[in-house]
Amino acid sequence: MAASKVFTEFSEGLGTINSSDSGQGPDRAVSDRIKGATSSSYDMAATASSQGDIWNWGMHDDTLLREIRALVPGFADYDTDGYSEQLYFLALRDLPIGLAELAGASVLEVGCGLGEGLNFLSRLIDAERVTGLDLSPQAITRATTRLSRGRRLHFVQGDAENLPFEDGELDLVINIESSHTYPDFGRFLDEVARVLKPGGHFSHIDTFTAPRYAQMTRHKEESRGLAWIHERDISEEVRTSIRRRMTAGSHFQRTFAEKRMSPVARLVGRQVRRTIFGAKFAGFPDTALTKALKKAGAVPSLQGLPDSYRHHIARKG
Ligand SMILES: C[S@@+](CC[C@H](N)C(=O)[O-])C[C@H]1O[C@@H](n2cnc3c(N)ncnc32)[C@H](O)[C@@H]1O
Repeated sequence: MAASKVFTEFSEGLGTINSSDSGQGPDRAVSDRIKGATSSSYDMAATASSQGDIWNWGMHDDTLLREIRALVPGFADYDTDGYSEQLYFLALRDLPIGLAELAGASVLEVGCGLGEGLNFLSRLIDAERVTGLDLSPQAITRATTRLSRGRRLHFVQGDAENLPFEDGELDLVINIESSHTYPDFGRFLDEVARVLKPGGHFSHIDTFTAPRYAQMTRHKEESRGLAWIHERDISEEVRTSIRRRMTAGSHFQRTFAEKRMSPVARLVGRQVRRTIFGAKFAGFPDTALTKALKKAGAVPSLQGLPDSYRHHIARKG
C-alpha cells in the first residue's frame, strides 16, 4: 500500500478511536483495519529509524532530571536531550514501591516501539525478565537487533488487546504514549488486569482527547480488576519538552539534520516530525508549508488530536 494511503487510514483510525466516549471498541473489521494501518505506519518509521530514536513527545521536570542524573552517572553526557527518558523514568518513579523492590520482577512494556526507552529503564532496576511488546514487526526486529540482552531485555511482536502472557505472570506493566491507537481501550485494560499478579502494578502514560478521557474515567469507575491509585496531569511538562525540541539548534533538530537524505525528503520529513511530535499540542500552528504538504498528502493530517497528557497508576486487586 502507498505510504500516503497508509497514513490516511492511520489518521482516520486515530479520529475514530479518540472521538468516541462510548467505551465500546469499533466492530472487528474496522478495528483490524485500524491496527493494520497502525502497524504499517510504525513499520515504515522503524525502517527509517536510527539507533537511539525514541518515539514519544517527552516531558521536562527539573526534579525528575536531577533524580535521573543522581541515579545514572554520566547521564548529562549521553547523546540525548533527556526528555523521553524523563517520561520513562516517571513510569517507575511514581509507583508506590521503590526501584529496589523491582529486583527479580517480571516487567512488560506494551507498545515499546524501538525499545530504547525500555532499554533505559531496564538498567535502573534489577528485574529478572524485561519484555517489550509491539504491534509493528519492523520495530520489534530493530529493537531485537540493536538492544536485546537475553531475559534482561527481549522483544516480542503482539497486540495490546490480546497479550501473549499467562494469567498473573507479571509484576509490572508499563504503557507509554501508545494506547491512544488501541481501538478497544477497555479490552486492553482487561488484558493488563489478567496478566498482572495480585498486587502487581500498571503504569500508564498517554495523550487524551476529552472523549477518550471520559472513557478512561468510566473504565476507572468500573474497576475491571484494577484499583486506580494515582493520576497526574503532565500536559505542561510535555509541552515544555515539545517547545524546546521545536527550537532551532535543539538536540532534536540536530539529530535530524545529521540523517542522510535528499533535500526533498528533508523538507517533508521536517514537517512530518513537527506534526507527529506534538507541535500543535504545544501551541504551534501549522505553517503554510505544513498546510500545503498536508493538502498534497505528503504530511499526515492527524485527526483526534489530544488536549491533555496524563499519568495513571493502578494496582491489581
Ligand atoms: C508513539 S509510539 C511510542 C513507542 C514507545 N512507547 C516510546 O515511547 O518510544 C506508539 C507505539 O505503540 C505501538 N502500538 C500501536 N498499537 C499497538 C497495539 N495494538 N499493540 C501493541 N503495540 C501497539 C506502535 O507500533 C508504536 O510502536
